[in-house]
Amino acid sequence: MKYDRIDKQLYIKNRKNFTAQMVANALAVFNSNDIYPVSADSTLPFAQHRDILFLSGVDQEESILVLFPDAKNENHREVLFLKETSDLIAVWEGEKLNKEQAFEVSGIKTVYWLNQFPVIFKQMMAEASAVYLNTNEHLRANTEVETREDRFIKQVKVDFPAHQVRKSAPIMHRIRSVKDQIELDLMQRACKITEAGVRRVLGFVKPGVWEYEIEAELAHEFLRNRSNGFAYTPIIASGKNACVLHYIENNQQCKEGDVILLDVGAEYANYSSDLTRCIPVSGRFTDRQRQVYDAVLHVKKEAEKLLVPGTIMAEYHKEVGRIMEGQLVSLGLIDQTDIKNQNPDWPAYKKYFMHGTSHFLGLDTHDVGIWHEPIQAGMVFTCEPGIYIPEEGLGIRLEDDLVVQSSGAPFNLMKDIPLEAEEIEDLMNA
Ligand code: GLY
Ligand code: MN
Ligand code: MN
Repeated sequence: MKYDRIDKQLYIKNRKNFTAQMVANALAVFNSNDIYPVSADSTLPFAQHRDILFLSGVDQEESILVLFPDAKNENHREVLFLKETSDLIAVWEGEKLNKEQAFEVSGIKTVYWLNQFPVIFKQMMAEASAVYLNTNEHLRANTEVETREDRFIKQVKVDFPAHQVRKSAPIMHRIRSVKDQIELDLMQRACKITEAGVRRVLGFVKPGVWEYEIEAELAHEFLRNRSNGFAYTPIIASGKNACVLHYIENNQQCKEGDVILLDVGAEYANYSSDLTRCIPVSGRFTDRQRQVYDAVLHVKKEAEKLLVPGTIMAEYHKEVGRIMEGQLVSLGLIDQTDIKNQNPDWPAYKKYFMHGTSHFLGLDTHDVGIWHEPIQAGMVFTCEPGIYIPEEGLGIRLEDDLVVQSSGAPFNLMKDIPLEAEEIEDLMNA
């Protein structure tokens, strides 16, 4: 692991928050992710499942966490099953957690090797009447791949058909969405690493650079700061490419007069930062680019003010749409007739601003959370309005990461990252 050890109190507290919401005499199981294959003997780098990570800090494949708060055997109230290691195995397979280290990371005293799982789990299930299974209920999740968790769920249902089944996901979405101070500090660190990358790029960009060269500068800055790299596939989109919302080719040359949209964030300790900035290739915005930039900035500043406890995100998105509508009229992009004739399900402003303004942020970039309940202090949201004008070869989005406070304006984890157009220009021309 490149990141510094995280205080295990975080995981002790997270488990307490989870078990407090379980029904009596139930156990819950959380599996790690697989290491995903490419072909031959190649694999993708390991990325831990965020739920087992959140509840234990174990950042290692082939791990299982079982929580059984009512277990008669005190040692079975929280149990980790890990891939066996020893000095000999470590020589061949590299460093894995031994039982003492697993306790240091997680605060869990009972650690078994994975090959003991079938026997011990059977004993635990014999005592339990319900089992919490961890299905992926993220609204945008869309994958054909069967995860290790999915395989486990299938098998449990075959092996223990008489148990009552419960869902972990609603509890996880609730407890993961409100961040502990330890998590906020980690997210702040991710944002600081992103800031270092942005500042580096502001001194690097000039006409003729290639989008992938910018990507390389960012990767360099992220890695030298103990990040594993990008929290999500970076978007480095110059000119009209910025109007393709999921542009990730990053293979074009940046031309004088164009604006580059950078949607790039470092991860740190598996926590995401998520930033968007737009910078002029030549170091100065044209008047029109500046008009559009300032319109987006205005919407962002107004939207942020709404990220306070009690806000309902569906209403927030509608309100931001109204603010954006005013700006698009001022820019001459839509008019009153467009608004009068608009489809209420797809208002006129959506022609130029077709995505949402905010999402939960945390261990996942599009983090889990409960969308229909009022937002609370300690939740972290992005705020990322944009205007995309393909006919002008221009797309502007501005995105920061904000922590909802118990009162007053949200705290901006990216407050030190240049945002105002003049500041961007000054730094590019320094
Ligand atoms: N970078 C992904 C997003 O902004 O949602
Ligand atoms: Mn983003
Ligand atoms: Mn985002």
